[in-house]
Amino acid sequence: MEEAVISQEGTEEIYYPPPDVVSQAHIKDYQSLYEESIRDPQAFWEARARELEWYREWDQVLDDSSPPFFKWFTGARTNIVHNALDRHVKTYRKNKLALIWEGETGETRTFSYFALHREVCKFANVLRSMGVKKGDIVTIYMPRIPEMVIAMLACAKIGAPHSVVYGGFSVEALAERIEDAESRVLITADGGYMRGKTVGLKDIADEAMARQPTIESCIVARRTGQEIYMEPGRDYWYHELMSLPITNNSCQTEEMDSEDPVFILYTSGTTGRPKGVVHTHGGYMVHIYATLKYVFDLKDEDRWWCAADPGWITGHSYIVYGPLILGATSFMYEGAPNYPYPNRWWRMVENYGITVLYTAPTAIRGLMRYGDAWVRRHDLSSLRLLGSVGEPINPEAWRWYYSVVGRENCPIMDTWWQTETGGFVITPLPVTPLKPGSATRPFFGIEVDVVNEQGESAPPGEEGYLVIKTPFPGMMRTIYKDPERFKTQYWSKFPGMYQTGDSARKDKDGYIWVIGRMDDVIKGSGYRRGPAEVESALVSHPAVAEAAAIGLPHDLKGNAIHAFVILRQGVEPSDKLAEELRAHVGHEMGPIARPEDIKFVDSLPKTRSGKIMRRVLRARALGQPEGDLTTIEE
Ligand code: WTA
Repeated sequence: MEEAVISQEGTEEIYYPPPDVVSQAHIKDYQSLYEESIRDPQAFWEARARELEWYREWDQVLDDSSPPFFKWFTGARTNIVHNALDRHVKTYRKNKLALIWEGETGETRTFSYFALHREVCKFANVLRSMGVKKGDIVTIYMPRIPEMVIAMLACAKIGAPHSVVYGGFSVEALAERIEDAESRVLITADGGYMRGKTVGLKDIADEAMARQPTIESCIVARRTGQEIYMEPGRDYWYHELMSLPITNNSCQTEEMDSEDPVFILYTSGTTGRPKGVVHTHGGYMVHIYATLKYVFDLKDEDRWWCAADPGWITGHSYIVYGPLILGATSFMYEGAPNYPYPNRWWRMVENYGITVLYTAPTAIRGLMRYGDAWVRRHDLSSLRLLGSVGEPINPEAWRWYYSVVGRENCPIMDTWWQTETGGFVITPLPVTPLKPGSATRPFFGIEVDVVNEQGESAPPGEEGYLVIKTPFPGMMRTIYKDPERFKTQYWSKFPGMYQTGDSARKDKDGYIWVIGRMDDVIKGSGYRRGPAEVESALVSHPAVAEAAAIGLPHDLKGNAIHAFVILRQGVEPSDKLAEELRAHVGHEMGPIARPEDIKFVDSLPKTRSGKIMRRVLRARALGQPEGDLTTIEE
């Protein structure tokens, strides 16, 4: 048994790190390094950048001449794939495992750095042979299989930014992302496995391509072997292309400017269509490298498992790029955590000797409900650190994760960040005293604050807007094709500060407690969805005149989507219609956007300018006061 690790200071629960975690930590003293990094953030980031390889060094660390469009490592030349793969195959890491993958159906595939590099080179050659050039945006819509990782890296290698659309999205979501990116090439798969069933990804892709005819070539990886339609002259099998003589094992990595985009990733806001968040080869690379190294103390001998999907930012940064840049061994699992039994994850932790597990509160709550026995039957002693991301973790789930999964031995890194920030922003380090439910303190080089309506720093205990006050290299550069929206959405409310969209409070120790979204973005099951997308999916159904979507608290999911629908004249409400509408949203947007529940209403609360007041709907549904209604017009 560890010595008393829990202390009750007042009523507050504080967990101190076990001695061996402290003795192995890269950083032993957060406070002094933090203060130093805040005095000179550029020096902190520059030192991290020097730990990586560049084709040409930067002229300037930070160019802040035209805020909020900050640039990092200007003048430098690099490619993220050079640091993720090329440099490792020249070292002892060549024959080290880069990726271990387990399919939901039980098979294992492994890739050494040498093998992953080879596959990426071959596929990059395929893409080049199809005419994909530096700057072309390639859309990727795939299940969680190694080919997805290979496809992403191959795009980055040749300087073609990828736009990954999560495999749980569906027709309209895919079509509108293809359209915005004007992609000519789509990479997908015949299907994917989820909870023992197959999902017809190619069928969905076919429908999306019919709506968005910009796609000239579609590359299809074989996963399920299910029957699919292959259009001659447009659709090609991945495995056939990879065996062509054009695909030799070497491929020149494209030299990129530090500020060239490495990918765009669409994410939801309150209004309008999803925003294409742009990240760069240089700054993004440095940010995710530094955060993963210090926060999870990742070392050569680790077996890292980030249990997200590569289709979300968590997967981009901490499945695909971060661990490879660090030369680590990553594990990736295709399917559902409880398939076929609720011990699936724990069996894999034991089998592969996972040392660090990083997942989301919704997954923890989901597995917690099956009880401790499923966990306890496995030897999880390989674990030394745990992580959480995506939403505030409720203390009950935190304690279960800590005591049952981590055997009171593994500190939990509750990392707060966003698609927009590229990597961690508020996070503990292994040596940080932890308070369940708090993401603790900002990462090096970054100042955050909680401010009131006037932008003044709020006193401890008071809820306010969570803002970021310092530029840092992983911050998004812009919204693709819409720099104006980038400015107004994030930088206009408080001059000089980035508005995160979250509410939070600080405590007397400067710990940040994130409460949740302040805008109407819905965070459920770890997924981020915008009400406007669900609403336009509903309105695209012939029976619907108007719709509003909100998130309401849900025990397992955190939040669930609830929709309010005004039917067209003459259409009668019924349970059958509600079911049909839910299925329709599922078809257009994907199962992750299907509303939990649909209510038929005669009117919706709106402002005089016609905007739906979702906070009023939320307050009514929760039986709470409706707040300021001076602008309402039903
Ligand atoms: C929420 C996911 C509390 C937050 C990486 C943020 C969190 C949104 C945490 C971004 C956390 C993420 N504690 N809330 N540790 N991590 N969030 O873009 O509301 O999918 O604004 O990025 O998730 O979601 P996104």
